[in-house]
Amino acid sequence: MGEYDALIAAAKQARENAHALYSNFRVGAALRAKSGRIYTGCNVESASYGLTCCAERVAVFKAVSEGERGFDAIAVVTDAATPAPPCGACRQVIWEFCGDIPVLLGNLSGKVEHHRAGQLLPRPFDLSSSQGQ
Ligand code: THU
Repeated sequence: MGEYDALIAAAKQARENAHALYSNFRVGAALRAKSGRIYTGCNVESASYGLTCCAERVAVFKAVSEGERGFDAIAVVTDAATPAPPCGACRQVIWEFCGDIPVLLGNLSGKVEHHRAGQLLPRPFDLSSSQGQ
């Protein structure tokens, strides 16, 4: 059993709850806190398309809203032949709340890619960017 197998399995399970009536693209995410707890998310689409929230941000905001701080990995699972990476908005949120954590991208065939948040979002804007004016 690999270090991230349980996290990837949790993301795959969360994907089952995706509310993706418009895109039919189902996404699951699982975020592991340093406490050991895992917070999951799925994409939740709105009939007013722009209100849709991605799986990754659902997972991060669930965790933060529960009072959790400090994370050590996130997994994202889709049915894409090449595992799909987080969108720009999710990269920003992952960076801000989780820092340079491993980002595991999986698909239903069992492919897994290992990335890091800092590599997916080079030269990010964050709290430090607006200090020292
Ligand atoms: N989606 C995610 O859940 N995560 C991403 O990082 C990329 C996109 C969702 C949003 C929408 O419900 C569907 O995938 C198609 O864009």
